[in-house]
Amino acid sequence: MNAAHGVLATVHGVTLVGLDARPVRVEASVGPGLPGLRLVGLPDAAVREAGDRVRTALQRSGYSWPNERLVVNLAPADLPKVGTAFDLPLAIAILVATRQLPETVTAGTWACGELGLDGAVRPTAGQLPIAAGARDLGARRLLVPEAAAPEAALVPDLHVVPVATLAEVVAVLGGQRPTRRAEPADIVLPTDVPDLADVRGQPVARRAAEVAAAGGHHLLLSGPPGCGKTMLAHRLQGLLPPLDLDAAREVASIHSLAGERAPDEPLSCRPPLREPHHSVSMAGLIGGGSGVPRPGELVLAHQGLLLLDELLEIPRQVLDALRQPLERGEVVITRARARVRYPCRVQVVAATNPCPCGHLGSTSRACSCRPDRIERYRARLSGPLLDRFDLQLELRAVTREALAAPPDGESTATVAERVASVRGLAAQRWGQGRCNADVAVATLRRTCRSEALARLADALDALGASARAFDRALRVARTLADLDGEQHVGRDHVDEALAYRLPTTLAAA
Ligand SMILES: Nc1ncnc2c1ncn2[C@@H]1O[C@H](COP(=O)(O)OP(=O)(O)OP(=O)(O)O)[C@@H](O)[C@H]1O
Ligand SMILES: [Mg+2]
Repeated sequence: MNAAHGVLATVHGVTLVGLDARPVRVEASVGPGLPGLRLVGLPDAAVREAGDRVRTALQRSGYSWPNERLVVNLAPADLPKVGTAFDLPLAIAILVATRQLPETVTAGTWACGELGLDGAVRPTAGQLPIAAGARDLGARRLLVPEAAAPEAALVPDLHVVPVATLAEVVAVLGGQRPTRRAEPADIVLPTDVPDLADVRGQPVARRAAEVAAAGGHHLLLSGPPGCGKTMLAHRLQGLLPPLDLDAAREVASIHSLAGERAPDEPLSCRPPLREPHHSVSMAGLIGGGSGVPRPGELVLAHQGLLLLDELLEIPRQVLDALRQPLERGEVVITRARARVRYPCRVQVVAATNPCPCGHLGSTSRACSCRPDRIERYRARLSGPLLDRFDLQLELRAVTREALAAPPDGESTATVAERVASVRGLAAQRWGQGRCNADVAVATLRRTCRSEALARLADALDALGASARAFDRALRVARTLADLDGEQHVGRDHVDEALAYRLPTTLAAA
């Protein structure tokens, strides 16, 4: 080593491209030249400002800033680095390069975190995917802001070291203070979901919710204002089986990246429910934004439910953008500097009025909409998108007497048990994590009695329905047979499945 150039310090950090972690080596070197810091290696604005933050944090914590030329390289140089999580590895690299920490501390040291001007180590978005990524990239030990440590410690096989201040970082790395080990956040199944028993009447809709949950089918509810569509849609969440630990961590990683969860929040095994407003933009629903594209509502609903309330108020081009990601179970967003892939295996539950006034087809009130307005309204829902809904249901308003009556239906807990057993069966039959809604129809056919298939073909012929309608009904019939405990799909299952299609109003669109 050339003595004039001092120590070359290297500390490991991680940058995220979507949920994928890429390793970044933070290299610092002091040498002759004009005093100052030069930061190279495609840093974004937040990373560029890190120099000023780190300098002040170091000085205010009692460490010195070199009176020489300081060069910091973020390698590999061609990978864009985003966010503020590089402050900590940067500070450590500078402390080593300036001999305020021994060179030996850099071996196997991975760190992430933002620095406050007072030297506090603060959490950034995405601590969970950063920690998981660091582990996958070979880190055994990761220094993490104390406030984010419970989230990072959810990652198995990684020693997460919580640090609260720069002074603590130096004490821990310098061996003056024992390293702590972070406790992982609690794993919980929140019970604050509304109960299905609150829904009065609507036996068919309740049954449809059970079938949707059991088979993972997209569900479309149409009906007049106040008939309970939104109420029912909210109750689907409690019917879905809890997520396993890996799925819950995956969901939490997405929410952590999007800054949608507090890092000390417990890990929820409840499938997420996202409910974007109907004025949602394309970027808000699918994902986007400047720099590295952020996940949209569709991605935040991964492993859970996307509730599209007031479906036909959503602009058609936004709705149509959902089709491909729903089919593939992932969103790919390409920007000039990054191409990211986010998972979005979601179940859609949508609710709509049949026309702008909401009373088309109603027996109790006349529809006041002009025919051309109804046409335009319906045209927002394209045929191919409508075809994604295996279960389509037209609800009627419940009577005042029914609303006043005491609860008469089954509770969420009772129905969820049946749902769980059907999901268990599907996992055995089709593989872990798969449900009837995503199995190829050719495969499903093998589990149907021939008379059931004949019945289905005849019925749809008579209706002049498409091949897609056949597939849809067959998947639902499979779930109905499972709920009945039947190995083979029979005629009764087909008959009931055929009833879950919009007969009059929207289907004409
Ligand atoms: N079947 C029902 N059982 C019990 N309460 C009901 C039922 N239907 C409606 N309600 C009551 O009416 C309220 C409105 O229902 P909800 O918001 O689900 O209607 P909606 O069909 O979504 O109407 P809109 O088309 O206006 O969105 C609910 O909060 C609930 O209090
Ligand atoms: Mg509603």
